Amino acid sequence: MTARGITDRLGSLAFGGDYNPEQWDEETWREDDVLMRRARVNLTTLGVFSWALLEPEEGRYDFSWLDAHIDRLHANGVAVDIATPTASPPPWFTLAHPDSLAVTPDGTRLVHGSRDTYCLASPAYRAAARRIAGALAERYADHPALALWHVHNEYGTLCWCDHAAVAFRIWLRARHGTLDALNDAWGTAFWSQRYTSWEQVLPPRATQYHKNPGQTVDFHRFWADEIIAAYREQRDAIRAHSDRPVTTNLMLQYNLRLDMWAFADELDVVTSDHYPMAPGLDAAANAAHYADLSRSLGGGRPWLLMEQGTSTVYDGEQVLGKEPGEVLRHTLGYIARGSEGALFFQWRQSRAGAETWHSAMLPHAGPDSRIFRETVGAGEAVAALGALAGSTVTAQVAVLDSPDAMWALEANGLPSKRLDHQAMVGAAHRALWDAGVTVDFARPDQDLSGYRLVVAPSLFLLSDEAAENLRRYVEGGGTLLVQHAAGYVDDRMHARLGGYPAPALRETLGIRVEEHRPLRTDQRITLSDGSHGTVWSESLHTEGAETLAAYTHGMLEGRPALTRHRFGTGQGWYLSTWLDDAGYGALVQRLLKEAGVAPELPDLPAGVEAVTRHAPDGRRWHVLINHTPDTVPLPSSAHDLLTGTTLAELAPGGCAVLEGAR
Ligand code: GAL
Repeated sequence: MTARGITDRLGSLAFGGDYNPEQWDEETWREDDVLMRRARVNLTTLGVFSWALLEPEEGRYDFSWLDAHIDRLHANGVAVDIATPTASPPPWFTLAHPDSLAVTPDGTRLVHGSRDTYCLASPAYRAAARRIAGALAERYADHPALALWHVHNEYGTLCWCDHAAVAFRIWLRARHGTLDALNDAWGTAFWSQRYTSWEQVLPPRATQYHKNPGQTVDFHRFWADEIIAAYREQRDAIRAHSDRPVTTNLMLQYNLRLDMWAFADELDVVTSDHYPMAPGLDAAANAAHYADLSRSLGGGRPWLLMEQGTSTVYDGEQVLGKEPGEVLRHTLGYIARGSEGALFFQWRQSRAGAETWHSAMLPHAGPDSRIFRETVGAGEAVAALGALAGSTVTAQVAVLDSPDAMWALEANGLPSKRLDHQAMVGAAHRALWDAGVTVDFARPDQDLSGYRLVVAPSLFLLSDEAAENLRRYVEGGGTLLVQHAAGYVDDRMHARLGGYPAPALRETLGIRVEEHRPLRTDQRITLSDGSHGTVWSESLHTEGAETLAAYTHGMLEGRPALTRHRFGTGQGWYLSTWLDDAGYGALVQRLLKEAGVAPELPDLPAGVEAVTRHAPDGRRWHVLINHTPDTVPLPSSAHDLLTGTTLAELAPGGCAVLEGAR
């Protein structure tokens, strides 16, 4: 089952969002019906945070209100994505099961009054979640409006309580087998941490000083598995009654607690939420990053954008007032990269509650507003793109991303606090996006032979198997760029001895890193090719590689900074510092040329995004998004699905979906 299954049911791409009619009255519902038709809404997510209404007291369900809304929406031509409400247990639940409330690392038990007030490892919570998922599925299994099941909301809440401790120990026993193996893996010979019974082993709660790195990474792995187990229970409770696709909305951008690859394998269709925080081009590039990731998680299958905002999100860091035209540009950005539509949080802006000021498709101001007009414009555009349903996107370049590598950098006591996984992966994607190239994300241990170029920006932790895999990739003809501080530890967080990185990678890259030299926050170094590095430097030896750029001063003067190794029929490049944007962009361009990868469409200026969607029957469409204030001539004129006309140029800030030659 894929997002295609959903669009088959809808008869077009999806457009709509979270709908919370329980916050409103009948008159408003009547207006919703009219305005949803106007905005071409065809899919709404219902019930995400409705547990208190659906189960007003333990074991007594009340579905009557939901029945009425689903029937009303159905009569209005709107399909539903029914959510299980388990991200927000009602107050009665937490009072009846206080041990189900989450505990922070310092031992504070959180109380209800917000959302995500649960410990996912609590047996009472898990049982209640299974029950309500099953009850909903039994009720709505065959409803003609039902397009999709939406389990929970943005899994990723962690807990350090005693339930979590019990579940963690069970997980550790399964992973390590014996206490001796655990002691060995965690290096408990250091600081007198040796465990002599399983009961002594705790989640990494607040400690006096640095926590054990093996324990930190294993705790993340444990929770990632526990989250998937909790999802599976609900999914299976639903599947016992219904054959419609089941998913959960992944929050890939901020929620760094998921093993997104393993999780995606469990989903009938990958769905994800995205809220860029930086304005302008940065927002578009960030949307492209997480759209490419969402597609890659499903192995290239169509996916669905479950949530985006029309404008501002919250306070502080999270403010992004979208500019006029950005709703459409972002919507098409996701669709360009394989989403089978675009949904929002939420349909109607709340008048009360914690997200009163969060933008929506229909703002407080009502339909006579810029934002609603943009919503309608985006709805019309999506409605014109039905032909794209089921078409896919292909990429010749992959950026490696792995949860283990991400969690490894959360350990205490690392040589630099500035090894930021998300930033490094984001910078690699951004440089490729700037170059106009479509990018997949890939795991370091998966088959990479389909890619001409693979970029590995952040692989501090690298297993032996993954290092072998990278060796095979280059040997077989691939071009690989590995960046600083790679392969320093194995999958137990044990340092590699005899020189970094992992042996198979050393052989592939033809280098040996002898010493790491993190840079101070204000320190900037120069390379012999004129580029500049920050964050990190290394004293490395070439062992077969050629030096393309060297450090120019200090103790590293004359030593290799950027190397290339011809290995097998491919090339392994190593960059031992974090280059400034211009230097890194130039390096990426050079690598693309070496690997024979051209931009998706030729001759487009910077700031014009172009991605191609391919249909199985050979048809293809170029989605073009002009993020610049200039009119941009097109390489050749073509029929545009959005306007139904032949276009020769893109208006400032304009978009087009052009039919391509077969
Ligand atoms: C998402 C969440 C929604 C809403 C939204 C606000 O993370 O799923 O319920 O809170 O953020 O941006």
